[in-house]
Amino acid sequence: MVPQWFIETKREGQAHPEGELREWVRGVADGSLPDYQIAAWLMAVYLRGLTAEETAVLTDAMMRSGECLTFNLPRPTADKHSTGGIGDKISIPLAPLCAAMGLAVPMISGRGLGLTGGTLDKLESIRGFNVRLSTAEFQRLTGAVGCCMVGQTDSLAPADRRLYALRDVTATVPSIPLITASIMSKKLAEGAQTLLFDVKVGTGAFMETRDRARELAQSLIATGRRLGRTCVALLTNMDQPLGRTVGNALEVRESLEILQGRGPEDVRALTVREAAEMAVAAGLYPSLEAAQAAAEAALASGAAEAKFREMVAAQGGDLAAGLPEAAARVPIVAPASGWVAQVDARAIGRVALKLGAGRQAVSDPIDYAAGLDGLLQQGERVEAGAPLGWLCAADEARARAVLTEAQTAFRISPEPVAAREIIYERMA
Ligand code: URA
Repeated sequence: MVPQWFIETKREGQAHPEGELREWVRGVADGSLPDYQIAAWLMAVYLRGLTAEETAVLTDAMMRSGECLTFNLPRPTADKHSTGGIGDKISIPLAPLCAAMGLAVPMISGRGLGLTGGTLDKLESIRGFNVRLSTAEFQRLTGAVGCCMVGQTDSLAPADRRLYALRDVTATVPSIPLITASIMSKKLAEGAQTLLFDVKVGTGAFMETRDRARELAQSLIATGRRLGRTCVALLTNMDQPLGRTVGNALEVRESLEILQGRGPEDVRALTVREAAEMAVAAGLYPSLEAAQAAAEAALASGAAEAKFREMVAAQGGDLAAGLPEAAARVPIVAPASGWVAQVDARAIGRVALKLGAGRQAVSDPIDYAAGLDGLLQQGERVEAGAPLGWLCAADEARARAVLTEAQTAFRISPEPVAAREIIYERMA
């Protein structure tokens, strides 16, 4: 394969023969292809796209560029991937809930990206929680506990790491086939047989329109199927933060509330629905209704919370030490009485980042206690002067510096407003 001819093929909108595409990915992973040729090809793909067949071959080759895990367990394996959103803590209650229902969940998660928080950062707000386990330990705990949540190792889909870094600096990230291959190569290498995709739609998401989200979901499902996995997708609302908290320790606390059968209804409903979808797709329950009832029962009985505590302890975490709490709490005061008509997820994400809950540079430390708490949601009534939520920060000055920005994230209507729809559609 001559690299410039390979690039020319895509530049002219033609399909790559399978063998050449696999050779190309080997060259990406082993470093024999230079950045400038990979970058040129990425732009050709961005402009011309890939066929479903090419996307599957690219995904498979990227997956095989590193270690591929397998599980030989008596329980079916399942995992979910969320495209990311503000306040999206669903993975934290979901994995132990699924484990309590009889699934094995080997979950490899990420850190915060842009404005969206990362599951690993959230879990690390629990003192001692170790997300850097060896592959053998990850496999062992997935079997022994029923769920394990870790970070990506260097040996998982290394071709993706190089392609992702180059996409980031060549304006080629928002390409459906490239996003598909990136997400799926990692999820497939992780070894779960059933995959649920939570594709977020809205101002706080990667995909701002339902059409784009649908296109991505279709591509993820089709690629997963071609490569032998069972896949389901939900398109869900990310115009407003999920739940009442944004920020690492705050979101762990809210996740615990969900596991105790409390917590905000949107987080609870989405967690139960996702667990049920995974359990049905994995063949554990005959219907969504039966699986949802089982999920509700696992929350009510304390079985899901017990699984969470078991997982935390197995990964070195100490919940008894308490979660970090911010020194300063400043209310976001409602300027008028009325009903919350909008809570701009992107603006709330920016505020959380400025409070210290996220990183502005890769090496930035995180303030685990920082973020927003007690956020009102669309449709809720508020009186002038009452809090719309609270800013949590290391000191009051840091909170006050973002107070106006936080206030303008809320729109208040003098008329009643309906609560927002959370789950738009299901695709399989
Ligand atoms: N997440 C990924 O892992 N890859 C992408 O390309 C986009 C989101």
